[in-house]
Amino acid sequence: MSTLLITGGAGFIGANFAAYWRRSRPADRVVILDALTYAGNFDSISALCDGEYCRFVHGDICDAAAVQTLFQEHDFDMVVHFAAESHVDRSIYASQVFTRTNVQGTHVLLDAALSAWKSSFEGRRFHHISTDEVFGSLAPEEAPWTELARYDPTSPYAASKAASDFLVRSYAHTHGLPVTITNCSNNYGPYQFPEKLIPLMILNALTGQKLPIYGDGGNIRDWLYVEDHCAAIASVLDRGRQGETYNVGGGHQIPNIELVGQLCDTIGRRFAEDEGLAERFPDCPAASGRTTRSLMTFVRDRPGHDRRYAICADKLAHELGFRAGTTLADGLARTVDWYLANDAWWRRIHSGAYREWVKLHYGTEPKRSLASL
Ligand SMILES: NC(=O)c1ccc[n+]([C@@H]2O[C@H](COP(=O)([O-])OP(=O)(O)OC[C@H]3O[C@@H](n4cnc5c(N)ncnc54)[C@H](O)[C@@H]3O)[C@@H](O)[C@H]2O)c1
Repeated sequence: MSTLLITGGAGFIGANFAAYWRRSRPADRVVILDALTYAGNFDSISALCDGEYCRFVHGDICDAAAVQTLFQEHDFDMVVHFAAESHVDRSIYASQVFTRTNVQGTHVLLDAALSAWKSSFEGRRFHHISTDEVFGSLAPEEAPWTELARYDPTSPYAASKAASDFLVRSYAHTHGLPVTITNCSNNYGPYQFPEKLIPLMILNALTGQKLPIYGDGGNIRDWLYVEDHCAAIASVLDRGRQGETYNVGGGHQIPNIELVGQLCDTIGRRFAEDEGLAERFPDCPAASGRTTRSLMTFVRDRPGHDRRYAICADKLAHELGFRAGTTLADGLARTVDWYLANDAWWRRIHSGAYREWVKLHYGTEPKRSLASL
């Protein structure tokens, strides 16, 4: 039986991982530490938090005293570190908080783990979740990134994640802290905050708003279904070598414009199969038999928009026997179905609460509306 600290467990991937871990390792104890920023949502984990096997702690990873106290209260075997500011667009308009959370927060956690575990590292693991964005942008003819690719971050978000990766590596090298890192590609699935591409498009389509596509829509991403990502992290925690980094990719590279088209077609099929959807989502073009592709609109490109990301996940496959198994069509259908079935979850976020959080967090209104992010 192990005790895990999951940071950022009320966010998209952290909430999916906490649920995955509770399902697959019911005897383990889980503590979720989350500051509940605009991106954190207690609704995503409330069903898991029974107070005994899974406990929620509302706190900031940058608060060194609180984090140290948490390590004293619980004898953590593993830290699985998701907490971060994670949206590239926001890092273009207000990037200081990215350095604070992603760099300083990671540093605080590393110090707390080092101090709590210094008598023996036996059976301990600090696992850091990172991104393929640390590698920059790929030209069309370039091979996917391996773990040996040069770090070349291009956005403040990616730069802050790169800095945190280096800190984690330095604690392994300098202090022998037992760490692992995963650099993963774009995730999608249930519980994703609707500022990110896939949930934004689904919710805009269901509510009859434009589907904003940056530039010419030709930017390519490698899409990873979140449950595959959770299983990949579990395999690294179980069998990964200490001090190593592993790339995790979905193996589905596709231009944004094609991805949005596929989402529109999936939504159209669901409306054709279920007449009740037209009543629940009357503003969706599919409710009146039209294609939601009619909402697709090109908007001004994001500054510094990376053209292509692609991950080589062979190390994970060869060393740990893990490959993401969900096809893009299946993953998109499951995601659309989840947002169709869980409008109570997203309607609250889609309304005023989003603006309130932005105001609180950044002291200002967002520069652009949610619909155009
Ligand atoms: N979403 C992706 O496609 C993707 C891809 C690659 C890597 N990642 C990485 O995976 C991790 C999780 O991403 P996500 O998409 O779930 O992010 P998210 O934005 O949905 O969730 C982040 C969570 O961290 C919490 N948080 C933020 N600041 C905090 C602080 N100071 N203290 C405590 N909690 C804080 C938020 O409240 C939120 O619950 C991040 O480290 C991100 O860089 C994400």
